[in-house]
Amino acid sequence: MASQFKLAPSILSADFSDLKSALTQCESGGAHWIHIDVMDNQFVPNLTIGPPVVKSLRPKTNKFLDVHMMVINPENLVESFAKAGADMITFHIEATNDVQSVIDLIKATGTQVGLSIKPSTELSEIEPFYDQLDLILVMSVEPGFGGQGFIESSIDRVRKIKVRLKELCLQDRVLIEVDGGIKLHNAKNVIDAGADVLVAGSAVFGTDDPAQTIKDFYNL
Ligand code: DX5
Ligand code: ZN
Repeated sequence: MASQFKLAPSILSADFSDLKSALTQCESGGAHWIHIDVMDNQFVPNLTIGPPVVKSLRPKTNKFLDVHMMVINPENLVESFAKAGADMITFHIEATNDVQSVIDLIKATGTQVGLSIKPSTELSEIEPFYDQLDLILVMSVEPGFGGQGFIESSIDRVRKIKVRLKELCLQDRVLIEVDGGIKLHNAKNVIDAGADVLVAGSAVFGTDDPAQTIKDFYNL
């Protein structure tokens, strides 16, 4: 594929009893990032990973740890994830009434900051924050579970965000990440729309050879 996109396999779809192997598969496939889905059973129905797991993974890999918090009151967890070794901490705009404070808190830890937006939230909501972010995470499924179908209208949302970033001369500073339903067959469309980082969970760990699948993404 022409553009230099990054693949971020989501360990949500890996075998939780053997995360070390998931990391090894990401390493041998050449994935750039590791995507870690944090769910609190409140913002989303599911319950997954907390800071202690990130702390255990940290010494096992040099890969960029991309923490996606799907939790209410994200400010309560920022410091713990930063200390545990997260490289990027992303939270949901829908999860707090004080987006600015959470951005400031994440920045104060020295960690990169991402802001995520659910499929039905108006793009105008993120407008005030563009120039403070390292990453915008566009959800292309309803957050909560791996293995869902890609919402096609997400393509248009990615396109619109890219246009806006270009207008603001921020396209080289703020990455667009797309998360949910990404497969080998639709990845190119998402990249062409302007995505810089693709999250893939079931498309990677649901195959017999995740390392080879990661390579297949990079050889599209
Ligand atoms: C969903 C998570 C995703 C999930 C993606 O709420 O944020 O990161 O792991 O899984 P797939 O790629 O299977 O849709
Ligand atoms: Zn995610």
